[in-house]
Order: sequence, then structure tokens, then C-alpha cells
Amino acid sequence: MHNFVAWSNNYSVSVSLIDSQHKKLIKLTNSLYAVCGEKNSDKRHAVFLKCVQDAVDYTGYHFGTEEIVMKKLGYPFYEKHYREHQDFVAKVVGLMDDLKTLTYVNPVSFVHFLKFWVLNHIAKTDREMGNYIMQQRQSNALSHITLKIKKVRSVVEDPFSRQQTVSYQYKIK
Ligand SMILES: [Fe+2]
Repeated sequence: MHNFVAWSNNYSVSVSLIDSQHKKLIKLTNSLYAVCGEKNSDKRHAVFLKCVQDAVDYTGYHFGTEEIVMKKLGYPFYEKHYREHQDFVAKVVGLMDDLKTLTYVNPVSFVHFLKFWVLNHIAKTDREMGNYIMQQRQSNALSHITLKIKKVRSVVEDPFSRQQTVSYQYKIK
């Protein structure tokens, strides 16, 4: 099937963990797009809401990963990047409310917004972060950092609540 959004190596931020999370976000966006083609509007609405919830939860988890990496490495533009994440979450929570209350909202515009935001953010803001990580790697011989990632329970119910801490060694290579 033709993909609505396709991964390109140009999107790589040279950090394998973050690249793999971005690929998953693209996959989730494609799943949402596929749901838009469902002819039965009740079914489309229900499945779309479920897929949006999955995408939003994963996005919260992914943002958490980036934010921890940036903090650990003393990224100088952390605040700007963090604010971009928060603005996105606030916007999506608003769109989710619309989707929940208006039963027959056409989800296509939502998916287009998601595509635009994800690609734009990866190509610009995350790229800057990736460049900084590469510099750190070169100058500090940085080999690995430990991440404690808190999984998001539900971004929609409470955008910034997080529970369940997952820790693991992550090698920056
Ligand atoms: Fe980001």
C-alpha cells in the first residue's frame, strides 16, 4: 500500500534510538491515514479515536525520551524544544476533544496536521538536537548514557502525567 508518510534517511538525527522512535511515529501516522479510508463512518470514528490515542500515547513517550537525552547532555536549546513538544500536546488534546464530541468529524485534516508537524519537527528541531549530540559525541568521547523513561499512561486524560519508569542503558553510536 502506498504510504502517506515515508521515512527517508534525510530525517535521521544520527541517534538510533530516536530514529527508531521517529519511524514508529511515521508508521502510526500512516495507520491513521489508512483508517480515514473506512467507509462506515461509525466504525471509522471509533477506530480513528483508538489509533489517535495510541499515537498520542507513543508521542508522549517519545517526547519524554528526547527531553531526557537533551537534559542529560546539557542541550542549550532544551527550553525551546520542550515548549514545541508542549504546544503540540496541547494542540492535539484540543483536536481530540473535537473528535470525541463531534461524531462525524472528518479525520483527514487531523492526519495532515500530524504529518506536517512530525516531519517539520524531525527535519528542523530534532535535527538541531541531533547535531548537538554528534558534537558531544566527538568532543567528549561520549559512548553511552542511561535513560530513565517514564511511560505515559494517557496523554489525553492528563497531558503531562507519567507513570511506570523504565530504565535501560542506551548506547549512542
Ligand atoms: Fe523533538
